[in-house]
Amino acid sequence: ADGTVDIPVVVNVLYKTSAENISDARIAEQIAILNADFGGTNTDASKIPTEFSGVKAGDTKVRFHLVKTVRKATTKTKWGTNDAMKKSSTGGIDATTPNSYFNLWIVGNMGGILGYATFPESSGLWNDGVVIAAPYFGKTGATAPYNLGRTATHEVGHYLNLRHIWGDASCGNDLVADTPTQTGANYGKPTYPLYNTCSGTSRSVMFMNYMDYVDDAAMFMFSAGQKVRAQSVLTSTGARSGL
Ligand code: ARG
Ligand code: ZN
Repeated sequence: ADGTVDIPVVVNVLYKTSAENISDARIAEQIAILNADFGGTNTDASKIPTEFSGVKAGDTKVRFHLVKTVRKATTKTKWGTNDAMKKSSTGGIDATTPNSYFNLWIVGNMGGILGYATFPESSGLWNDGVVIAAPYFGKTGATAPYNLGRTATHEVGHYLNLRHIWGDASCGNDLVADTPTQTGANYGKPTYPLYNTCSGTSRSVMFMNYMDYVDDAAMFMFSAGQKVRAQSVLTSTGARSGL
């Protein structure tokens, strides 16, 4: 009634080792993190600088609930970003009706890659969804500094049409008006304020945005513009209206 969309999630787990066979509890933990981050109830939201408190998303009115978990043992030790995990014919698990369910795959290892996502333009296709490497999924037992479940928050941001905050170019455009332009991605745990904007004025970039590349502990907000952009994908005329 308040316009909240509760997205149904299918988690597909491909494991070689038992550590990669992520537990039900850890999956529940990750879903809870998504709900906190998209609801703006994450405890570290208190760290949002005053400069950005007027443009924070707060509650994006997007939520997630687990529908089912599909598990499959594999002998594969390393996966790439070629979508092999999304097809049974290439050793993966076929998506469950991607028009109606958000499919999330967990694989043991993708080299240095934490995760990747499809944008809404490809909605409904067999490869639609998000992939996360097991060490960066959930919180308990995850690998620092990516152990607060924010790889999923970032990738689901892409799945809901959000771009990297630096627009994938020096002073690029992220198609959102309330995030300052920045010269590139930020890493690690920057200290506020961080002056690598492109505006010429002394103001900080929003490195604490989930769509930057900082450590999990250093990212804790979406902007109001990102909220509008993500929500529009879920309206009756949006690319993900079937969710
Ligand atoms: N697509 C990015 C990567 O694979 C994910 C970055 C997520 N960042 C994070 N702090 N969890 O590198
Ligand atoms: Zn990204």
